[in-house]
Amino acid sequence: MDYNAAITGWGWYSPAQVLSNHDLEKLVDTNDAWIQSRTGIRERRIAGPNETTSTMGTIAARQALEEAELSARDLDLIICATTTPDHLIPATACLIQRNLGANHAAAFDLNTACSGFLYALATGTQFIQAGGARRILIVAGETLSRFMNWEDRSTCILFGDGAAAVVLEPTAQTAGVLSTVLGSRGDVEHMLSIEAGGSARPASAETLAEKAHCVRMKGNEIFKLAVRSMAQSAQEALAKAGLVTSDLRAVIPHQANHRILTATQDALGVSDQQMFVNIDRYGNTGASSIPIALGEFLQGNAIDVGDHLLFVAFGGGLTWGATVLRWADIPAVKMERWETMRKEKLALTG
Ligand code: ACO
Repeated sequence: MDYNAAITGWGWYSPAQVLSNHDLEKLVDTNDAWIQSRTGIRERRIAGPNETTSTMGTIAARQALEEAELSARDLDLIICATTTPDHLIPATACLIQRNLGANHAAAFDLNTACSGFLYALATGTQFIQAGGARRILIVAGETLSRFMNWEDRSTCILFGDGAAAVVLEPTAQTAGVLSTVLGSRGDVEHMLSIEAGGSARPASAETLAEKAHCVRMKGNEIFKLAVRSMAQSAQEALAKAGLVTSDLRAVIPHQANHRILTATQDALGVSDQQMFVNIDRYGNTGASSIPIALGEFLQGNAIDVGDHLLFVAFGGGLTWGATVLRWADIPAVKMERWETMRKEKLALTG
């Protein structure tokens, strides 16, 4: 039997500490008017001293499991999309697996920067379609504030911290992930990088003094590529799904910069009502930005079975992607699940 992959649970977490544009005026030579007009950001959230990608991801994951009415012990696989893991080893997904007590789950991290959620969603979908896993937790989390050069006004104004999670499950319905388009260009990796701290340039007193462990970015070069690849991949994903923009209930894009979103919206020809934007309150939260926006969208808007959502992202690497999703009949997916679990239990007990 062919299965599709449907989202059955979701959750997100934003740290309590707010860093406003006015707060940033005290750190670097910038001002609220410049930041708002060039980026659309008013404030962003910053992780507290005891918060990390795994602690924030765990909170989001618990919400997603509760929404899906699943126990952590039911999970087969945890994928964590992050550019800012707690450590190089172990994977942040393993820390979340431990925190949740997901004793039957495999776990690994995936790093495609701000496109991470879409790459993780594509990977989870492949696991489900190939029959390799049935109940998958996807967590996307970032603690970007720990990798900021707080003296560099061209980067530190843009980013924020947060985490979000979704549960992905098989369904026989013609719903869930309908199409995915992914892409990359490693030849322009210099446009956005954290140069030091890996095997090419291990951490040293020198790298620390240079702040080479912090995000460096060529913002205006990225800008043009971001608009082009987001619009193109979105159009390809729509065509693969056999849909046009007027079929979309909402577009939930990676929140990188308000001007990038407006230019992408114009290129796609979608209405203001279809475009979901929350960058003003969170800034760019990397891999977690789409699932945080999805969580907020679902909280504030009614969604019907059969509604179509478009996710589209662009990030360091460089990487990009677009996914078209048809909202599934979630109670029916849960019924399919209980039936499968009942059969699994019967097979075990003979
Ligand atoms: N406050 C005041 N002035 C500033 C600031 C600031 N925070 N930052 C830069 N400036 C100045 C520059 O020094 C420059 O001054 P100059 O003309 O005297 O040299 C002027 O503003 C214009 O600089 P630009 O870099 O050309 O400004 P731009 O309009 O391109 O905006 C920005 C910069 C906001 C970074 C924009 O290019 C952008 O958002 N790019 C995309 C970045 C992005 O999305 N990155 C992440 C994508 S991938 C991922 O999400 C991980």
